[in-house]
Amino acid sequence: MSLCIALSVGREVIIASKVSELGSVGVIGMAGRMTILGIESSCDETSAAIVRDAASAEERILSNVISSQVALHAKYGGVIPEYAARCHADAIDDVVLEALGKADVSLDDVDAVAATAGPGLIGGLLVGMVCAKTIAVAKNKPFMAINHLEGHLLTTRLCYDVAFPYLLLLTSGGHFIFAEVLGVGNYRVLGETLDDAAGECFDKVAKMLGFEYPGGPAIEQYAKLGEPGRFRYTMPLQRRTGCNASFSGIKTATKLHIQSLGEKITHQDKCDIAASFQDTVVKFILRQIEKAYRMTTVKPQNVVVSGGVAANSALREALLEFSEKHGLNFFAPPLTLCSDNAAMIAWAAIERVKAGFAYSPLDAPSKPRWAITEI
Ligand code: KG4
Ligand code: ZN
Repeated sequence: MSLCIALSVGREVIIASKVSELGSVGVIGMAGRMTILGIESSCDETSAAIVRDAASAEERILSNVISSQVALHAKYGGVIPEYAARCHADAIDDVVLEALGKADVSLDDVDAVAATAGPGLIGGLLVGMVCAKTIAVAKNKPFMAINHLEGHLLTTRLCYDVAFPYLLLLTSGGHFIFAEVLGVGNYRVLGETLDDAAGECFDKVAKMLGFEYPGGPAIEQYAKLGEPGRFRYTMPLQRRTGCNASFSGIKTATKLHIQSLGEKITHQDKCDIAASFQDTVVKFILRQIEKAYRMTTVKPQNVVVSGGVAANSALREALLEFSEKHGLNFFAPPLTLCSDNAAMIAWAAIERVKAGFAYSPLDAPSKPRWAITEI
């Protein structure tokens, strides 16, 4: 059964289903801890989570339901924005209900509702924002619009005791940023990609090799069986100062290597290309993070990597070595929290509330573009 509520808040028309049903799921005492319903729908994962401001990390995530569209987009080799928006609209009610059910809480138990407001694909953002705002209106709860990148960059603090300031590498399918994280809402970008994001480059190279979308995990698996020194690359931005990044040259060089092998490309060739490509990307990131470290204004004790590409074990190992060399602690989120999920959105809202930031107005817009320096 699907009960539909439609409201008009600001410029967005709010339509949400099953709101009255949501209100009747389970009841528990909150014991004075802030509990937040988070919603994420900026790309191809529809996710809802219940996160509580518990003292220990193990007790914080009460549920984190992720409905992935990856298999649906795989046959097109990438995310189709319009299709993604429709899939989010179809999935969102059930995902929110499941998150509440798994956490064994009702909407009355939730202290606030948070949703990703951007950056991301506008159709998906609108679905999550409209759902969150409708619940906030229907249940008279505060609403908070969260920047997706802020979600990624604070995730590590959801799981570990990581003090500010830290040197951050945020590397996902759409973003590549080195930043100095000085506190909640206090982010200084040190460098960013001038063209493709690293994850996007992994995906495009994977497509050239005939691997399924998203290609990062496949490249990593093939690279394990390959010879990283077989194919040669020129490091990007050799004569540039600063710690910006560029991955399109590595992508083009890989395309030329693949073309040079022609139609007779073997399984071992693919492994060697994956290994050479990944090794070049990791070495380039290492070179740039050294520069980023030198550019920090307050010397950090910690290094944090986040975003989907943070799942890559070769990158993690390289960053661990870099951190040890400089006497820094290295943190990476557990693999399940590297890619897009709503727990990071709910957690960012908790961090913001605790840091004294105000809740958002109900006409807060969805923003396809939203830099972390503009939060
Ligand atoms: O953060 P995320 O889930 O979504 C965005 O906000 O973009 O990141 C997805 C990206 C994809 O490009 C995917 O190929 C990449 O993360 N990725 C990886 C690995 N796992 C996911 N890249 C390299 N190695 C991996 N193991
Ligand atoms: Zn992301």
